[in-house]
Amino acid sequence: DPTLHQLAAAKGKYFGSATDNPELTDTAYTAILGSEFGQITPGNSMKWDTTEPTRNTFAFTKGDAVVSFAKSHNQIVRAHTLVWHSQLPSWVSSLAATEVQAAMENHITQVATHYAGQVYAWDVVNEPFNEDGTFRTSVFYNAMGSGYIATALRAARAADPTAKLYINDYNTDGAGAKADAMYNLAVSLKAQGVPLDGIGFQGHLAIQYGFPTNMQANLQRFADLGLDVAITELDVRMILPRDATKDATQSTYYTNVVNACVAVTRCVGVTIWDYTDKYSWVPSVFSGQGAALPWDENLAKKPAYTAIYQALGGI
Ligand code: G3I
Repeated sequence: DPTLHQLAAAKGKYFGSATDNPELTDTAYTAILGSEFGQITPGNSMKWDTTEPTRNTFAFTKGDAVVSFAKSHNQIVRAHTLVWHSQLPSWVSSLAATEVQAAMENHITQVATHYAGQVYAWDVVNEPFNEDGTFRTSVFYNAMGSGYIATALRAARAADPTAKLYINDYNTDGAGAKADAMYNLAVSLKAQGVPLDGIGFQGHLAIQYGFPTNMQANLQRFADLGLDVAITELDVRMILPRDATKDATQSTYYTNVVNACVAVTRCVGVTIWDYTDKYSWVPSVFSGQGAALPWDENLAKKPAYTAIYQALGGI
C-alpha cells in the first residue's frame, strides 16, 4: 500500500506529522514516523523557551535532532515557531517595552539563521488573534502594536531567504470573525509588501463542536491573495471513551479537511499534530477528551486513518 505521503505527493502535496524529542527513542513509533510521512514539525523543540531560555544564549540540540531525523528520512520540516505568546521564557515577558523589539529581532535572526536552508517553512508568528478577531495582547503586541507581525516577517526573511514564511492560528479553519481578521491582516501585509508566503490553519477540531463552516472556501480566499495555505496541526478530539459512532464522526472530519486541501491548488499539505494517541497533547489540556489522532495508543490504525487514505485517493 502507498503511504499517506505518497498519496498526497501524487496530488502535489505533502502529508506530515508533528513529533517531539522524547518520542524519538520509541523505535516502534519512529518506524512509522519515518516511513508514513513526508513532512515533520517539531512540536516543542524550536519554541522560544527551548531555543533561547536565557537572553542571547541559544540551544539548538533538540531542534537539530528533529531536523536530523527528518533529513535521514527524506522529509521536509515546517519549523515552529518564532514569535508566540506561549512557551515564552520569563525573561522576555519581563523586558521593558522599549527592549522587546530588539530581543524579538535577535531571537528571529539567530534561530532562523541557524536553520536557514534546512527548513521548508517557518511559522513566524503563531496565534496572533483572539476569538473575536481582535489582536491578542502579548508582550510583543503591547510593545509594538500589530506592527510586530510585519517586523517579525521581515527579520525572518532576512535571516532565511528560502523558507516559506507563515502566520499560523487556530479556529480560523472556517468562516468567522477570527478567520476574517486573519484575512484582513493578510490583505494588509501583502499591500505593504511584507514578506508573507502562507497562512497556517491549525485544525484543532473537536467532534462535539461541529465541523468548521465553509472550510474549502475559507482556504480558497487566502489562496486567491497569492498565498500558500496549509493545515498545520490537525487533530480531531472527542469526549472519551471512544466508540464506533464517535470514530465515524471523527473520520468524516478528517475526510472533510483532506478534501478541502485537495480541492485548493495552493493548499500545500496537511500536518497532523503527532500521529498516535500515545503522544497527543489533548488529554493533558482537555480533561476527559482525546483519541484525536488516526493511530491509537498502541500504534494501530483507526478508522480515521482509512478516511485520510481514501480522501487522498487510496483504494
Ligand atoms: O519539558 C517539560 C518537562 O521538563 C516537564 O517535566 C514536563 C512536566 O509538565 O513539562 C514539559 O513541558 C511540556 C512541553 O509540552 C513538553 O512536553 C509543557 O508542560 C507542556 O505545556 C507542553 O505542551 C505543548 C503545548 O503546545 C504548550 O502550549 C504541547 O506539547 C504541544 O503539542 C502544544 O502545541 C501547540 C502548538 O505549539 C500551537 N498550537 C496549539 C498546539 C496545542 O496546544
